[in-house]
Amino acid sequence: MPSRVFVTRRIPKPGLDLLAAAGVRTRIGQTDDETAVPRAVLEDGVRWGGVLVSLLTEPVDAALLALNPRLLGVANCAVGYDNIDVAAATALGIPVSNTPGILTDSTADFTWALLLAVARRVPEGDAYVRAGRYKLWGVNLMLGADVSPGGSGQRKVLGVIGYGRIGAAVARRAAGFEMDVLAYDPEARARIDADPGVAWAELDDLLAQSDFVTLHPALTDRTRHLIDARALRRMKRTAYLINVARGPVVDEAALVAALRGRRIAGAALDVFEREPALAPGLLECDNVVLAPHMASASVDTRGRMAAAAAENALAHLRGERAPNVVNSGVYETAAYRERTAAGG
Ligand code: DGY
Repeated sequence: MPSRVFVTRRIPKPGLDLLAAAGVRTRIGQTDDETAVPRAVLEDGVRWGGVLVSLLTEPVDAALLALNPRLLGVANCAVGYDNIDVAAATALGIPVSNTPGILTDSTADFTWALLLAVARRVPEGDAYVRAGRYKLWGVNLMLGADVSPGGSGQRKVLGVIGYGRIGAAVARRAAGFEMDVLAYDPEARARIDADPGVAWAELDDLLAQSDFVTLHPALTDRTRHLIDARALRRMKRTAYLINVARGPVVDEAALVAALRGRRIAGAALDVFEREPALAPGLLECDNVVLAPHMASASVDTRGRMAAAAAENALAHLRGERAPNVVNSGVYETAAYRERTAAGG
């Protein structure tokens, strides 16, 4: 078995421990968590390794993949893999894997943390107290929006766009807030119809009826800018938008305009269109809560994601079917057979 794995940036210890226990030589492209891997380091690493373990910050494009004819796989340490040109990998005979399932609950929990934070103005309250501005309790201080029916008895509507594992987990949690749940996902119509307490809605209807719209689709050509100026105009003026999926699902410039103009009540974003850069004006909006792509960031989840990526990497190295391969058809290709015959 070829024994070299190039890890683009430092992953949590459980993943590195698994690689070490398997006797694999590991090289890490970047150990400083706040610095990106230079492209030259990435290219050297790909040439050196039998398998690449990547993070969502590295574009794994066709040119990079073509650098090493003996590269046996790419194990992305994330459930999303829009950073990888999977079509190019498949054409080259390279299996690609991800870490599905593991981060579902952490991400769903964090979606609710953001939803509650923006509706009830938690970060604003925190900043207010820290700034020494809290001198006197006031009946008009920090008024926000209810999530539960509250005194009005009015059930709120949660609109879930993208009904995969995470979208469904977010929807399940809405029961505790006595919300009505609408869901839109053309690829999950049957699952939505089968889920008690969740009703299918066309996108425009969901946008028009929801008090909270939460985004959970994968980033594809179909979902890029799914929430644009037109979609934002469909939303209620009192509604909030939450995005923990991928930044480009939202046209961020249009969102800034909607937030500035109070076209919607607010937004909470864990991801950004040109991450980590922010659209001009976003920081100045007082009705948005911002987070640094941390929805899956619990110690346990990130450790398990690293371990899953390592398990996938070891399978790629051994020429075995990776537990979480995303392009399984690759195993039937002549390109894959030639590559594995060449060895990593
Ligand atoms: C993913 O896994 O795709 C998240 O965005 C980061 O955990």
